[in-house]
Amino acid sequence: MTSTAPAPVVGRPVSRVEGPLKVTGAATYAAEFDPGPGLCHGAVVTSTIANGRIAAIDTAAAETAAGVVAVLTHRNAPRLPYHEHKGLTDPAEGERIHVLQDDRVRHQGQPVALVLAATPEEAAYAASLVRVDYRPESGVTAFSDAVTHAVPPGPRYRSRGLEGDAGRGDADTALGAAPVRIAAEYDMPRYNHNPIEPHATVARWQDGVLTLWDKTQWVDNVRAEMAAVFGLPPERIRVVSPFVGGAFGSGLRPWANVTLAAMASRHVGRPVKVVLTRRQTFGITGYRPRSAHRVALGADRDGRLVAIRHEGISETSTYEGYAEEQLGTSEYLYACRDVATRYRIAPRSVQTPNDMRGPGKVTGVHALECAMDELAVALGMDPVELRLRNDTIVDQSTGLPFSSRSLRECYQAAAERFGWGRRNPEPGSMRDAQGRLVGYGCASATWPAMRQAATARARLLPDGTAVVSSSSSDMGPGTYTSMTQVAAETLGLPLESVRFELGDTRMPVAPVHGGSWTMASLGPAVQAACAQARDRAFAMAGRGDVDLAAVLPRIGEPVEATVHTEPGEELRRYSTHSFGAVFAEVAVDPELCTVRVPRVVGAYGVGRVVNPKTAHSQITGGMVMGLGMALTEGTEVDPRTARPVNSSLADYLVPVNADIGELDAIFVDESDPHVNPLGVKGLGEIGTVGVAAAVCNAVFHATGRRVRELPITVERVLNTPVG
Ligand code: MOS
Repeated sequence: MTSTAPAPVVGRPVSRVEGPLKVTGAATYAAEFDPGPGLCHGAVVTSTIANGRIAAIDTAAAETAAGVVAVLTHRNAPRLPYHEHKGLTDPAEGERIHVLQDDRVRHQGQPVALVLAATPEEAAYAASLVRVDYRPESGVTAFSDAVTHAVPPGPRYRSRGLEGDAGRGDADTALGAAPVRIAAEYDMPRYNHNPIEPHATVARWQDGVLTLWDKTQWVDNVRAEMAAVFGLPPERIRVVSPFVGGAFGSGLRPWANVTLAAMASRHVGRPVKVVLTRRQTFGITGYRPRSAHRVALGADRDGRLVAIRHEGISETSTYEGYAEEQLGTSEYLYACRDVATRYRIAPRSVQTPNDMRGPGKVTGVHALECAMDELAVALGMDPVELRLRNDTIVDQSTGLPFSSRSLRECYQAAAERFGWGRRNPEPGSMRDAQGRLVGYGCASATWPAMRQAATARARLLPDGTAVVSSSSSDMGPGTYTSMTQVAAETLGLPLESVRFELGDTRMPVAPVHGGSWTMASLGPAVQAACAQARDRAFAMAGRGDVDLAAVLPRIGEPVEATVHTEPGEELRRYSTHSFGAVFAEVAVDPELCTVRVPRVVGAYGVGRVVNPKTAHSQITGGMVMGLGMALTEGTEVDPRTARPVNSSLADYLVPVNADIGELDAIFVDESDPHVNPLGVKGLGEIGTVGVAAAVCNAVFHATGRRVRELPITVERVLNTPVG
């Protein structure tokens, strides 16, 4: 048999390998697993106060309702050990709520009872019969009150490198002396993740082993947390999560549904399924915190930044001090000698926020990039030129060189594709064929390129195929596909001969599927495991063979390699980030002030692109999220009660197809030999960064109105004066 080297598969726009399973309904999501006979359905009862205690709870009517198996409240629920556990994705400060362990209520929507019944309908009906009387206590419900009690992130955040106050030089003096300066405030609401698949868990105890089928981005941490909560050795817990119907970060922490399902299943001795309703996800899961920012920029008359001052406050709960890096970008995105940042968190009687796609950056860059546009106007300078004039090859916050940085190339590529040259800089000067005001805006995007330790196993089979596995997740970016590509290329096997498996704690440990680091972290482990298994097989065959598919049948038994990889020194010698430039066109009705976005074009320097097709989808999906942030999304929290008001997809408006125009993502040529062996920088999150700022800046260009509060609703445009 002659061996022909297969065409390279890394870099090819391969369609999702699991696509057929998804479109035919054969992919099994958390709530769809069948744990065997006796399954009970759990319906959660949630609190209707923000702070206080449960005075009385009457479950009699629920207990006698049709089909009901049990009703769990803090009075009869088993006491759980709740040993100390902090996953990387838990807030560094504070302690999670201990589910049904006492009468304490700390937020609206906190679980106070779980009703178990034979069918979901019976459980939901019986749950409506549970009567809870509260003894409310005063709490901080309004964000405006919370900010008056804002504090710096706690000491455990400082050890993670997140400071309340940071910067260099003397920003105030530099600002005072700057010939051109602007200062402005920007407000962003709370955002909920709203994946289409709700959070759900199926739990079963069998032969001393707890199996959890859960919606999660990190099976190993679900296991670790449940081991701590229940006081079990981790070996006695298995977590399975092969498919995730979107998450955006909502799957980074186990929520109350996991503990409730496991606790109830043990209590009744039957498998239990708990599925949160959409409304419940607004109370039980995390969210991107509401935030308020203030930015002051100073420049010389040539547009060189001489001072940046950036302050931000975001909400957190009273029991956990969630903090995220909102202001770091203002310290490294542009060259500037004098920089000061000040970040505070504001405790409020709400549940704890958590990471949501591009956490911190999406928020902070929005404020910075709107402010940069205001500075460009003050300078009478083209906004693209202003960014390029402040480009830098050194990260001035650390003094380290960027491992690669294509911000300039991104601006050039995106500006050309977008047609930025057609822009008349005068606000309100451009109209489309329907007489609408047209505006062009731009903003920078960035996200850190990070890498974590990861382990993968490659198993080569006598039939000439390979199974590669790691406990990772695929919440949408295409982990199944990209890992299959890396494995196939390393093994020299056709794509169809390689199967990649993920989402099970029985597999080698992968890092949390977040931070845009799955490709950068797990990719090298998959590559190394495949290389080792391949070399082992060739050594066993021993005849100088180069065709694995021919060698494996001759060996006649599986050949396996498990390899653990870790980041090296490179991250200490370089500052590693992806950069991008995003351009938006808006069309604003001059009378009605409705804002449409016919076009968004972004260009990104993300290192090597393993799969241009899934990469393009990632970026344009991120842009849709950015457009939601710009125009429609935001969780309305009643300031009197801290209750999320618009907790449904009818009222929380994510963009629909009709809201979205043309989206285009360009990947500039970028080779980064420093970040990791694959040279990939990650692109799951950067697509959302900067989009809302580009839209805001375009709305200003169209109308002369600077809307500094998101989302840009009709009334906000109407109520914002020109100038
Ligand atoms: Mo991402 S917010 O790390 O899932």
